[in-house]
Amino acid sequence: MNEAILVTGGAGFIGSNFVLDWLARCDVPIVNLDKLTYAGNLENLASLRGDDRHVFVRGDIGDRHLVGSLLAEYRPRAIVNFAAESHVDRSIHGPEDFIQTNVVGTFHLLDEARRYWEGLNPRDRAAFRFLHVSTDEVYGSLGPEDPPFSETTPYAPNSPYAASKAASDHLVRAYHHTYHLPTLTTNCSNNYGPYQFPEKLIPLVLHHALAGKPLPIYGDGGNVRDWLYVADHCAAIRLVLERGRVGETYNIGGCNEKTNLEVVHMLCDILDEVRPKTGGGSYRDQIAFVTDRPGHDRRYAIDASKLMHELGWQPRESFESGIRKTVQWYLAHGEWVAHVTSGEYRAWITKNYAERAA
Ligand code: NAD
Ligand code: DAU
Repeated sequence: MNEAILVTGGAGFIGSNFVLDWLARCDVPIVNLDKLTYAGNLENLASLRGDDRHVFVRGDIGDRHLVGSLLAEYRPRAIVNFAAESHVDRSIHGPEDFIQTNVVGTFHLLDEARRYWEGLNPRDRAAFRFLHVSTDEVYGSLGPEDPPFSETTPYAPNSPYAASKAASDHLVRAYHHTYHLPTLTTNCSNNYGPYQFPEKLIPLVLHHALAGKPLPIYGDGGNVRDWLYVADHCAAIRLVLERGRVGETYNIGGCNEKTNLEVVHMLCDILDEVRPKTGGGSYRDQIAFVTDRPGHDRRYAIDASKLMHELGWQPRESFESGIRKTVQWYLAHGEWVAHVTSGEYRAWITKNYAERAA
């Protein structure tokens, strides 16, 4: 077994942040397997061009032949599985891709990992880890007074996306329980930060605000999410990978519960300060309440005390500091935004928003 790790989905939002953070901290090589769907973008990894520590392979986690040959060639000591279809609204319009990648793809990846792991010598078998990156959405929706999700909260997924992630979590659990594959699962709350595709709330609002377009708020804007800066998520994954107890799940969250309206107001206020509208007025004037997301979960909140007490993790970024950094990043990366919002993106925006009457 080598020192290298295999990362899947490392050209997406969190995966590329993870790869960049990892290689900024150590020289342990990464083999990055990514299908490059609409959400995968090699521009995120442009700073690694010519860097031998990063091997990029375009391919599908469900391609067993490819996965098996990568494992045989690079003999990694761990797999970190970020690859997924990740957008709830897309899962409502077209659930099939979510089942294919998140359920069937994860199954094939897991099964190839098991075959590889079973062929290792006892020392390497003990050291190997399969870390599955999952979401708090598997726990369903909370009422206003409910305690936050803990690792023992029963699963109650409500969207096709959440159901597909829940299914993948169960497969990972079963592979540990049945075959003793050394797995770890993390369930994280909403991430934000650099390189997030502008279909998700924060980058979409920034993009629309600067373009003078309506800022679409589903329903009454009172839905609550627990926001975590992406670098804090990546730090938690590194810790769980190195020191997490095999077979366990760890919740990751920022203790930053905000309604969507609060988030959008904050974004507008920061933009008013750092990039005032040329014609005067506030970006808040662009807010438009639109038809709600079907089955929209009302509130997510995470109890991350297991991760904090067992592994000493703490988020470094407050929402106020992280959101400012994020706004600055998007303002400084107009070209990146322009590239990812051409082509397929426009078709998606029409599909998702055209029929949501204001
Ligand atoms: P993303 O949509 O930005 O990126 C997903 C990446 O996976 C893309 O690069 C895509 O090309 C790749 N991919 C998709 N299907 C693939 C396949 N079949 N084979 C190989 N690669 C494939 O997603 P993200 O927001 O970076 O999320 C990464 C992971 O973290 C997902 O598993 C998601 O469920 C989980 N997660 C996300 C959040 C969040 O707020 N974004 C929070 C908690 C957990
Ligand atoms: O909780 C973790 C999850 O967070 C991850 O598992 C998902 O991959 C990730 O996409 C995210 O899911 P959400 O559905 O919470 O994120 P999204 O950014 O799509 O929406 C955040 C909230 O904002 C949600 O309540 C819906 C609302 N929203 C979203 C969009 C895109 C709007 O009001 N208007 C919009 O245009």
